Amino acid sequence: LSSELRPPAPFTVPLPVPPVAVPVRPGRYELAQRAARVEIIPGTTTEIWGFGGTFPGPTLRLRRGERAVVRVRNELPVPTSTHLHGGVVPPESDGYPTDLVAPAGHRPPAAPGGHHGADGTAVTWHDGAKDYVYPVRQRAATLWYHDHRMDFTGPQVWRGLAGFALIGDVEEDELPLPAGERDVPLMICDRAFAADGSFRYPALDPALRETPGVRGDFMEGVQGDVILVNGAPWPVLEVAAARYRLRLLNASNARRYRLALTGGARFVQIGSDLGLLGAPAVRDTITLAPAERADVVVDFSGHRPGAVVTMVNRFGAGPTRDVMRFQVTRRVRDDSAVPARLPALEPAVPGDAAARRRFDFRRTGQGGAAAWTINGRRFRPGEPLARPRLGTAEVWRLVSDFHHPVHVHLARLRVLARGGRAPGPADAGWKDTVDVRPYEVVDVLARFEGYRGRYMMHCHNLEHEDMAMMADFEVV
Ligand code: C2O
Ligand code: CU
Repeated sequence: LSSELRPPAPFTVPLPVPPVAVPVRPGRYELAQRAARVEIIPGTTTEIWGFGGTFPGPTLRLRRGERAVVRVRNELPVPTSTHLHGGVVPPESDGYPTDLVAPAGHRPPAAPGGHHGADGTAVTWHDGAKDYVYPVRQRAATLWYHDHRMDFTGPQVWRGLAGFALIGDVEEDELPLPAGERDVPLMICDRAFAADGSFRYPALDPALRETPGVRGDFMEGVQGDVILVNGAPWPVLEVAAARYRLRLLNASNARRYRLALTGGARFVQIGSDLGLLGAPAVRDTITLAPAERADVVVDFSGHRPGAVVTMVNRFGAGPTRDVMRFQVTRRVRDDSAVPARLPALEPAVPGDAAARRRFDFRRTGQGGAAAWTINGRRFRPGEPLARPRLGTAEVWRLVSDFHHPVHVHLARLRVLARGGRAPGPADAGWKDTVDVRPYEVVDVLARFEGYRGRYMMHCHNLEHEDMAMMADFEVV
């Protein structure tokens, strides 16, 4: 999708860093979802829908072992559901697509409508606000939160309903990694802009009230031509000649990136979706499908003040080849280091798998009847495709006809094999989203810990998700 507005020259807008959420009292947060006008493209304003009225929303800084309650207040004209992506949380706080927070005083729709069939799915309706309970009994990791409303996740996230949730713990505190100002979350996503500065999205219903879905041929997902980092187009960050920890998140609806650095700079990857790797890995490129994260350290100490390092996207073309720039402006004392070893990761042993299952992510039907399905069916809320037992691990075989970033709620995943081969460095560590490429077969070990109840898996291409490429599973 192309913009009707001329975007700024790359690397002219400073990188914003999202504000850190301030608790209203210890362990209690309040995030109001509201519309706001912000300047994304210099000289024009864009209406966003943001948590706290910002895009990205405020960063939740959570600590392992410290329960947090987040009250989400909906001041938008449409319902929402908030999911903590990567969080091990009770089912009623997981942001199930029909567990909706409605604008205060709105009545539930007579029938929810949408792609999931006319069978009258039960909708849970919270009037105006809901308290999401996050027990935070999981290791340090870069998580994020975003809208998950049934049939409308794509357009609602596109409008800005996403933010970081960074979990810290003692184990990570003890490592000499770059911290403070040199620990920077980077939310990367693409957008397109209309001539009046608004976000362009090919929704069938621009008010996002009744009719879900996208216009025309967006079966493969919506991609824009402007790359935003933390909500700014191709920004620039002034850095010291020192190490930086960059928490890379691909928050795009459908775009995949292959990130690389110019001038011989490299990434040292220290973490993936669900926390630190067992050992750091030097990477020339980092490939991220929607919702995937990579925690990397980049060392600018070999650069003199005045030098620039550009982060590019090797999967992009034209304007989407650039992502952001780092401009070295000063020297600084740097006591940080990347330890040769990181805290040991428990091995992924398929031997103890309690079950083996297979899930096919495919397009079915033709033309107007085309659909994205899992095991041949569209999302049927309340009809789980699997019932794993709490505290067990299973081997799940994920099979795909297209690019599908497969996300499993609650579970921790380890890639066991990709295309029959041992996984490479891109698949290292604990994951919650696994990029399954066209005609690929990926085996993952999935551990189910924490809670019993209804959870879901789905494709994280948000248009596929809205076209009902989702399924329940129930932890028993
Ligand atoms: Cu990031 Cu079910 O989603
Ligand atoms: Cu998909």
